[in-house]
Formats: sequence, structure tokens, C-alpha cells
Amino acid sequence: MPDIPSSRLPGFHRLDVEARWRELARRGDVSPEELHVLRALGSPSFDILNQMIENAVGVFALPLGLGLNLTVNGRDHLVPMAVEEPSVVAAVSYAAKVVRHAGGFTADADASMMIAQVQLTGYGSPELARERLLAHREQLLALANSFHPALQRRGGGAREVQVRILPAPEGPQGEPLFIVHLLVDTQEAMGANLLNTMAEGVAPLIEQLTGGRVYVRILSNLADQRLARASCRIPLAALADFDLPGEDIAEGILQASRFAEADPYRAATHNKGVMNGIDAVAIATGQDWRAIEAGAHAYACRTGRYGPLSRWTLEQGHLVGRIELPLALGMVGGPIKVHPGAQLGLKLLRVTTVRELAMVFASVGLAQNFAAVRALGSVGIQKGHMALHARCVAVTAGARGLDVEKVARLLVERGSVKVETAREILASCQAVTAP
Ligand code: MEV
Repeated sequence: MPDIPSSRLPGFHRLDVEARWRELARRGDVSPEELHVLRALGSPSFDILNQMIENAVGVFALPLGLGLNLTVNGRDHLVPMAVEEPSVVAAVSYAAKVVRHAGGFTADADASMMIAQVQLTGYGSPELARERLLAHREQLLALANSFHPALQRRGGGAREVQVRILPAPEGPQGEPLFIVHLLVDTQEAMGANLLNTMAEGVAPLIEQLTGGRVYVRILSNLADQRLARASCRIPLAALADFDLPGEDIAEGILQASRFAEADPYRAATHNKGVMNGIDAVAIATGQDWRAIEAGAHAYACRTGRYGPLSRWTLEQGHLVGRIELPLALGMVGGPIKVHPGAQLGLKLLRVTTVRELAMVFASVGLAQNFAAVRALGSVGIQKGHMALHARCVAVTAGARGLDVEKVARLLVERGSVKVETAREILASCQAVTAP
């Protein structure tokens, strides 16, 4: 395995953007050609984007930042993150640094097993229909695989047929739902298109075998056969901050974790924090982040009650964080093929397989959550947010270049992070510098 440069880049945030580009090129994270791609991300070729959707009239850009310090299973990763919310990138970098000093994240991920669903109606006896379908399991799998022979050649393909019979939502007078699941190993692809093709492809055989009528045929975004997990173990002493001992910070995190476990209102926000990190890296690497979101929240509700995706416990003098969620990601296909930014994002991450990608995503989610619950359980979220929010307020008030930092600092010092205050500060700075 080639040597991977460290994800520690001390002082990176203090460099101007040209110097950041030079640093990435010097380290070999980007080639000279990719540097051009990075420079051009703000104004990519419209021709390429125009192929991606209909009626394209422009480009909606987001800032692309790098989450630093991440180490997962002993390997370092720079994390490209496309996000509009201030503090997300800084939070991941901060948390990853704390965890890095404690040995880094440990992660694992399942194989790329996805579920395609076929809804059958008018099947008569559900038990007989089930029997007939399962008796023709091999034929169904062979038919499904015939639509994607290349996937089978790469070691993937349709693996299993399952039948789920669910109570009718309208009560006993309704026909029970008869749902066929096709389990497909999609290898390095997210798999949406190939799953949908297979589901549509096997539907006529399902009708023929059961005498029923198929309606909906589509993948399920509750990819619960494709989970990724990450964990970290931080000694309490390493948590000390804000003039508080590590024990206090840990207690705040444990209380936040209990709160999220007990209360779906809190769990939703807790998970929003997790997804702040995961969505940002998903966008930067060309993933279907709506699918990831749908899967994550459905999984959070798997017990029938919405709960947190991550949990924190105290174990032998260490704060231990664990996260588990479905991650249907792809290293090939979809926008990755066409969008130069997505390709660059994957290159920066230096992952070689989709499973490794999922492990990084899970670790980023846990890092993001750590940063949030650490602040929430101690000094509060606003303290850290305000400094970053102040920059946005300064820009909204018209500050540019070096004035942004200056105005933001003065806003925080005055304790009034408001656009009017920023305008006043800006006007007084300009009055001082006017000839
Ligand atoms: C804000 O975008 C995310 C947080 O609300 C997450 C959380 O409450 O855990 C800070």
C-alpha cells in the first residue's frame, strides 16, 4: 500500500487559498492537472453540468473545505467537505485531532448488499405465492443477474430472494402487502440504477409464477444490510478544556447521549449533527446524499422509536463513542463519472474501496457528533459558533478580504453579532482608512 501523507496539516487554516493549493500539490494530494480542476470548481464547465440535469441554467456553488487530522484504522485521510454551515469543517478537524491523539477511529463496514423491492398484489394465498417464489429462487436470481453480467464478473450480483408479508395499512379487510426483496451485492457501486433494473426485470417472472400483479419496483434506501460502524476511545484527561476537567466534559457528553436515547426530539438534532459531517463529505464525493439521509433516519427508527445513531459511554476511564448507520456509497457510476469535483474529492480522501469510504464517512459522522455534544454538554454551542457566524455576518454587511476577520473579531468582542453592528464597525474602519 503506498505511503499516505499525514492528515495533520498544522497552520493550514492560516494560509491563503493559493498557499493551500500549493501545499496540497507539494504533498502530492493533487496533481498539476487536478489543481486546475480545484481552481475551476467555482466555475466548472457548464457543458458537463448541463448533462447532469434538465433545464440547467446555472451552477450553485458551495465552499469546499478540508477536514483535517482524521485517522481511521491507522490510515490518514484528508476529508473534502462541501457545506454552507460554518463550523462543520472546523468541528470535524478538532474532534479528529482529539481522537487521533487517542489512537484514531476504529471502523468497519459490511459488504455492499443492497435491497431491491417488488410489490406484488392479487396473489391469492400469500403462503402459496411465497412457496412458489422461493421454489424458483435460482431462476429469479439468474434472471436478475442476466441484466448485469458485468457486476457478476466483478464478484457481485443478486444473492438472495426474500418475501415479506405485511399487514394491510387499512386493516384486516385489506390485502396484506406482499413484498419481494432481492438482495444484491453491488460491489463498488451505490447501485441504485442496477437495483432498479433488476427489480423491473424480475417483475414479469414474479407475476407469472404467482398470477399476481406487480406495481412498485425500486431499491430500498433503508440499506440495513450495508452498515458501517466507527468507534473511538478517549482518555478522560484528553477531554479537559474550557477550564473544565476531562471528567466534567465527559459527564456532559454522557448526559447528551442519554438525552438523545430517551427523547426523539433530541435524537433528531443529535443525528442532524452526525449528518452535518456525513452530508458534507457525501456532496464533495458525488454521493446521493438524500439516499444516505433517508437510510440514516429510517435506521435510527428501526426499533419503532427514533433514536440516536451514535452513543457515548464511560468504559475503564475512557469516553467511548460508537456509531452505526447504513451507508450506500459508490466509488463508480452516477455523478462520479461526470463531475470532476467528485472525482477529485475521492482522490483527496485516498480510499481504495467503497467499504473504506464508508468507514471514513462513519468516522466523520462520529467526529462531528463528538464536537457537538462536547460543546453542548459544557460551554454551549454558541460560543464556538459565534466566531464563525460573525464572519458570515461581516460578509453580509459588506466586508471583504482582510476586513472580514477584523469585523468578525470586533463583533464577537462587542458581544453583538448583528448585521447593523457589523455595518457600523465597517463604516468606522473605512472612515479611519479613508485618505
Ligand atoms: C447544528 O447544525 C448541529 C447541532 O445542533 C447538533 C447537535 O445538537 O448535536 C449542534
